[in-house]
Amino acid sequence: MDKKTIIWKVVCSLLIIAAAVLLLSGVLNGNTMYHLGNRSELGPLTRSDIQYLTVEAPAASSKDGTVNAADWESVFPYIAKSMKANAENDKVVDYLTQDPYLVNLYEGYGFARDYGSARGHEFCLTDVGKTERPHPMANCLTCKTPNFAKLVNDDGVQAYKYTFDEAMERMEESVSCYTCHGNDAGNKGQITITHSYVNKALGANAESISPSTLSCGQCHIEYYFTVADAETMMPYDSMEAMTPEAILAYYDSIQNKDGELGFYDWIQPSTGAHMLKAQHPEMETYLSGKHAAMGMSCADCHMPIVQEEDGTVYHSHFIDSPLKDDTLLSTCVQCHGDTDMVEMVHKLQDRITARETEIGNKLSAFKDGLADAVKAAEEGAPGAKTEDELNAIRKLYREAQWFFDFDYVENAEGAHNSELATRCLDTAERKIADGMALLGIEN
Ligand code: HEC
Ligand code: HEC
Ligand code: HEC
Ligand code: HEC
Repeated sequence: MDKKTIIWKVVCSLLIIAAAVLLLSGVLNGNTMYHLGNRSELGPLTRSDIQYLTVEAPAASSKDGTVNAADWESVFPYIAKSMKANAENDKVVDYLTQDPYLVNLYEGYGFARDYGSARGHEFCLTDVGKTERPHPMANCLTCKTPNFAKLVNDDGVQAYKYTFDEAMERMEESVSCYTCHGNDAGNKGQITITHSYVNKALGANAESISPSTLSCGQCHIEYYFTVADAETMMPYDSMEAMTPEAILAYYDSIQNKDGELGFYDWIQPSTGAHMLKAQHPEMETYLSGKHAAMGMSCADCHMPIVQEEDGTVYHSHFIDSPLKDDTLLSTCVQCHGDTDMVEMVHKLQDRITARETEIGNKLSAFKDGLADAVKAAEEGAPGAKTEDELNAIRKLYREAQWFFDFDYVENAEGAHNSELATRCLDTAERKIADGMALLGIEN
């Protein structure tokens, strides 16, 4: 062997050894990380890290037989505690002060008197008891407490017509375990839809929606009270029919309390228009958005998977904005990379909110124009509109307000589905322009 060959062989061997050491240390390092479970380096916890339990439900201590949060505390102490933490989300924004045009838009309806932003689930029952909006019947309790869902499940739809005060006396807890799990929260945390109208409205189509979304969709939806029974009901029977356009068509097609076609929530005194009030359509908005199409559920962004020091991994039931929670924000990374999510969401919301203010004020001006025209007709003023002409304008006003409201009352301010928010506001704007043209007012 000449000198050159020896050097060559030594260099090669050294290279092979170096490569092997590098490779081995990489694998070892990976293994070590895996076994020691350094979560921050492995990325966020997932459902597969949760140890699901099958346990006997504890005895119910509520008068109506619902197993309440206190009953579950000994079995799922962390989950029960995290749910109680919803009391920390206690701030309320007064929308009527923030957006004064609303008082004009909701004229003649309870929301013109009292309309604040939502807060944590622990307050549902106290807030419904305190609101200055009138609530003659028990149906207002539908989305506030498991005890009302149980009352409907026990007594049938007549429960919706009990007087508010009579039913309120029997309510014990705000949104709680029974609401989303029935009495069986222990059974691998399986979701149970306890609000009967969900299955009534959607039938077999309920199965096309993830339970971790539909459990929230028992309340975070557009709903109405049926004329016959005052029963809480969803205005659609499938995901496809959850658009604002389809819901409006549905309301137009069903009977109102006067026995005529065209459901309405209230008749506005100054305009005589048959108005609709949209409610918080979070599920409808979310389901037609981008994340739902990727198979994500409400829980993915609103219920972080966390770990306690004793190793227990579970879904936190403290349900708030994902922007306030570092664990949830760390799950956005897998798709959004290093985007600053707080900034991104706020920018989007600012854009939508600015548009809302613009359209809200235009709608308010349209309403004033219509009210003036109605007054002129009543006074028999020269050139006043005929009743048919007024009705055509009232229809545009009803529709414009519906599309505006469908966006305004959705609680994510565009974050769930900015395309839908924009479509609603654009549609409202077009209808306002058509109405103003009929009124002969420069828009
Ligand atoms: C039984 C009805 C009901 C169910 C089910 C329900 N919610 Fe709520 N939720 C409400 C009500 C009512 C409020 C407003 C409470 C208040 O302001 O008094 C609320 C408030 C919230 C808030 C706080 C809003 C804010 O502006 O601070 C969030 C977030 C939320 N819910 C998300 C969810 C998610 C996610 C689910 C499903 C895991 C869910 N909710 C299930 C009725 C419900
Ligand atoms: C991809 C993540 C994501 C999913 C999935 C998601 N949301 Fe949200 N949600 C958000 C963001 C972002 C906001 C805006 C938070 C803010 O303004 O601070 C929000 C806001 C909300 C709010 C208002 C809370 C507040 O503090 O203002 C409610 C209520 C809500 N979502 C309910 C739901 C429901 C119900 C579902 C399922 C139908 C759902 N969300 C699915 C990301 C999500
Ligand atoms: C507003 C609806 C809601 C309420 C109220 C609620 N849960 Fe859950 N629960 C869920 C959802 C959604 C999940 C997560 C399902 C998923 O996406 O994997 C869950 C998961 C669970 C799990 C499975 C383990 C885990 O962490 O995922 C258990 C156990 C559980 N809940 C117990 C309870 C108990 C006990 C209460 C009352 C103290 C309660 N839940 C109240 C909606 C709710
Ligand atoms: C599984 C992948 C995935 C995850 C996880 C995810 N997103 Fe997204 N998100 C997307 C995609 C894809 C889009 C659409 C992007 C586009 O159209 O430019 C999007 C869009 C958005 C939008 C704009 C929605 C709209 O309608 O304009 C917001 C807001 C958003 N994401 C917030 C979040 C937040 C907050 C989280 C974490 C809590 C999150 N996302 C987690 C994939 C994801």
